[in-house]
Amino acid sequence: MINEIKKLREEIDFHLKEIASADLFEQFKLSYLVKKGKIQELFDKMKTVTPDEKPLVGKELNLLRKFAEEEINKLKDKFAKPETHVPELDLTLPGRKSYHGSYHPVLQILDEMVEIFVLMGFSVAEGPDIEDGFHNFDALNFAADHPARDMQDTFFIKNGNNLLLRTHTSPVQIRVMKSQKPPIRCIMPGRVYRNEAINARSLAEFHQIEGLYIDKNVSFAQLKGTLMEFSRKMYGENSKFRFRPSYFPFTEPSAELDISCFLCGGKGCRICKHQGWLEIAGCGMVHPNVLHSGEINHEEYSGFAFGFGIERVALLRTGIEDIRLFYENDKRVLEQF
Ligand code: DAH
Repeated sequence: MINEIKKLREEIDFHLKEIASADLFEQFKLSYLVKKGKIQELFDKMKTVTPDEKPLVGKELNLLRKFAEEEINKLKDKFAKPETHVPELDLTLPGRKSYHGSYHPVLQILDEMVEIFVLMGFSVAEGPDIEDGFHNFDALNFAADHPARDMQDTFFIKNGNNLLLRTHTSPVQIRVMKSQKPPIRCIMPGRVYRNEAINARSLAEFHQIEGLYIDKNVSFAQLKGTLMEFSRKMYGENSKFRFRPSYFPFTEPSAELDISCFLCGGKGCRICKHQGWLEIAGCGMVHPNVLHSGEINHEEYSGFAFGFGIERVALLRTGIEDIRLFYENDKRVLEQF
């Protein structure tokens, strides 16, 4: 054993002199100073040494290891690779809070409205945001010189051959009529675009839900009943509503549905412009020309249609007074819902 220790010492001496690079430095450590290195190997052999030899062998081995460690330490500055720095874990640091996302308040309202209509037996359809002039205007009985066709009101797509960003969800009515056979009972939610100045009450992009019911002998009374049923579920049994005659090219007769102002209870305030009422939907009996555009026989069928604005409802529900707050992506606003 003592002989083996001597031999190893010679080998170590030899290798120490050879160390001339970081790689050789590492190799030396791997050969002699790790758990499976040659010095440890001899330590492991101690089991075979007789008891009276043990103290001497142990001492020599320890000396050898100390020698190898000291020698390699001397070479450390020259050849050791810089150790990668692992920062210590500081358990006293405050934890990182994780923020949960949530559904946008406008989409929450939209979902709620869709759900009520679905429970009433309406199906849901969607149409493209980029429309053509035919579906957005002509098929809906807009006159050729209607002001809505003006560039001031509508975003047309440059060199788009009459393509535009739809200004309402009504064009989806035409697509539904063409693709389904009556009876049709359908709602069509979606985003719409208007070339409007942005302010606290209006945006250039917002959401609507369109509704369409076509069957034999559909009446204005059914339109009123449907919208009242929906509105009571959506706004509460105690809300007051009124239908007011209006005009839309695609319905005849046309009306608007008003709700008594949430905020002032009908007395008149800034939000309802001192009217006591807020407009929540446009509606009417589908114009025969529109049924014709949708390839439905207007002698046989009649129908009603309606369109709700979503952001207006979201404003009333949340108590937010400036519509722009919905789309500024300010977490302090959005995380409240
Ligand atoms: N499209 C109309 C608008 O954007 C809303 C509307 C009114 C839709 C009457 C309808 C309707 O379906 O019958 O102002």
